[in-house]
Amino acid sequence: MTLEAYFEVKRRQIDAWLDRLLPSETVPPREIHRAMRYSVFAGGKRLRPILTLATGESFGAPEEWLLPVGCALEMIHTYSLIHDDLPAIDNDDVRRGKPTCHKVFGEALAILAGDALFTRAFQTLADVPVSREFMERKIRLISEVARAAGTVGGMVGGQVMDILAEDRPVNAAQLDEIHRAKTGALIRASVRAGALLADATDEELHIVTQYADHIGLAFQIIDDVLDLTASTDQLGKTAGKDLQTGKATYPRLYGLDASRARARQLIEAAITTVKQLSRDTKRLQDIARFILHRAY
Ligand code: IPE
Ligand code: IPE
Ligand code: MG
Ligand code: MG
Ligand code: MG
Repeated sequence: MTLEAYFEVKRRQIDAWLDRLLPSETVPPREIHRAMRYSVFAGGKRLRPILTLATGESFGAPEEWLLPVGCALEMIHTYSLIHDDLPAIDNDDVRRGKPTCHKVFGEALAILAGDALFTRAFQTLADVPVSREFMERKIRLISEVARAAGTVGGMVGGQVMDILAEDRPVNAAQLDEIHRAKTGALIRASVRAGALLADATDEELHIVTQYADHIGLAFQIIDDVLDLTASTDQLGKTAGKDLQTGKATYPRLYGLDASRARARQLIEAAITTVKQLSRDTKRLQDIARFILHRAY
């Protein structure tokens, strides 16, 4: 199966599970369920759950555990996008090719839809019916996901640093810290989740974590590059926003060519790293290449 076909198949499975895991629009309070579903089903590459699935498949984890865990990560990701787009943060009008959540439902409901997706994610994780011998690993996984979404080296912490860095000079180390926290941490948790739901050894976990850290940083570098080089139509979000708002980005610090070169280097390192595993990691290698060459 080509990577494109794999993405298509997995996306369909993920969307079916998300539909099952999210409260129906007919359940009151309907407004919030409508807002949650609006943002989740607006589109999106589903990269984080696909990483959970692909990693889990390499290690032989059961699909019926990987899918709800991947969906929980997608809920957290979508919550982060809804809040990222709010007027108080990045103030964006378009997301996933549609008006942002707060544009359609108002700020109050958008904030609450984010909160609700976040809590639903942890409920989903807690409810994954793992076997008795995987209970401890599941608790470890829940703790890791919470940490990845949190303030110390996690998504919220990264978002705070991102906001504070607007229109301020940042050095190379600070920029990497922002990118690894705001975007890398959740990608790392998505990859590790797949390995934790199988019996990956500590050594194997260490290797997939290095892979994840490389692709996580590369992913945000390419996000920065695309903001400058792609169109709003292609991206499904307003292009050129980072320059306009004085964001700390790779192209601002290094220029476009050096940013692309750094991303390529990270992707090559990720592929070399994951090849050390004595597992079938072809899919993980292909996903790494996709992150570099993606157009949106
Ligand atoms: C966008 O993430 C926000 C970042 C963390 C860079 P994606 O590019 O994965 O967004 P979707 O899920 O495909 O919409
Ligand atoms: C997003 O970073 C990181 C999140 C935690 C959502 P950006 O602000 O660069 O993401 P986009 O470009 O709006 O998708
Ligand atoms: Mg932002
Ligand atoms: Mg943004
Ligand atoms: Mg961006």
